[in-house]
Amino acid sequence: MRTIELRGKSVVLIDQTRLPRELRLVRCRSAEELAKAIECMQIRGAPALAAAAAMALAVTALRSKAGGRAQMLRELEAAAARLRRTRPTGVNLFVGLKRVLRVARSARDVREIRAAVVREAKHIADEDVEANRRMGKHGARLLKKGDIVLTHCNTGALATVDYGTALGVVRAARRQGKRIRVIATETRPFLQGARLTAWELKREGIPVIVITDSMVGHVMAQDEVDVVLVGADRIAANGDVANKIGTYSIAVLAKEHRVPFYVVAPTSTIDLSVRSGREIPIEQRNASEVEFIGRTRVVPKGVRVLNPAFDITPARLVTSIVTERGVVKPSELKSLFKR
Ligand code: MRU
Repeated sequence: MRTIELRGKSVVLIDQTRLPRELRLVRCRSAEELAKAIECMQIRGAPALAAAAAMALAVTALRSKAGGRAQMLRELEAAAARLRRTRPTGVNLFVGLKRVLRVARSARDVREIRAAVVREAKHIADEDVEANRRMGKHGARLLKKGDIVLTHCNTGALATVDYGTALGVVRAARRQGKRIRVIATETRPFLQGARLTAWELKREGIPVIVITDSMVGHVMAQDEVDVVLVGADRIAANGDVANKIGTYSIAVLAKEHRVPFYVVAPTSTIDLSVRSGREIPIEQRNASEVEFIGRTRVVPKGVRVLNPAFDITPARLVTSIVTERGVVKPSELKSLFKR
């Protein structure tokens, strides 16, 4: 199945907090349930969150008992307001909501709104898969036979509706027979690399080695990395990239070791309304994610910890950005929207 699907009047998604121990599905019947699933990371990854938010509005419309257009629009606006408060950094969630609200507002009655909202949510999900396949095709050209790719966090099928962004490039290159191998950073504190990237790649028979985040410099110094491929949660107009915490450190190390650093993201992740990375809000998550590993406390009680979920990689450290419309330098982002 896809990572997230609209089934009847519910949204069914893979519970990513349980992987790799078990593959379990969660059914969400309301926007509130989806908002909670997003907050606790049962579903995560910027493109997957666009689909989740859009489907949350679809479920709201499908279950609404609104007697008229105005009331249904009010219910959708309230659901969207709740969803906007879940995770601030990734722009895709906001884009998904905007798209669905736009079609809802231009429909004439309750029945039309319902149909339009469901259609748009499904469209957003299908478009995501299509964009990923296109990025795979463009990005695979950057990889040579036998390359070792270092990746951070999870950018695979689980972070999207299906196929993945940076991992989609690995998939596409493998399909071309390039025998790519992957080094996945564990990605403290939520361990998306160790738990999710390693799980996805293992299932597909793609060779993967997991390292802790602090080993990146060492493996690069040993000449064990040919290319870095990461995803993005929001890209500013100047090419600065917000992505999982730790991405910036990897980019600095890649520069030092002359390893190309590619960001793979759909154009829906590019936010031309923010001029630079400084304007991108960075989500601060609960300290307990750092204080505990599983149920074991690893930081003494009473000691302050930080838990920013994302960081900003300045455009100057990014070799190129792979989108579904082609590969561009961070300084050429605007050209993608002129065609
Ligand atoms: O906190 P997460 O797991 O939602 O963070 C995900 C990332 O940072 C990914 O790299 C990004 O969303 C791109 S995934 C295609």
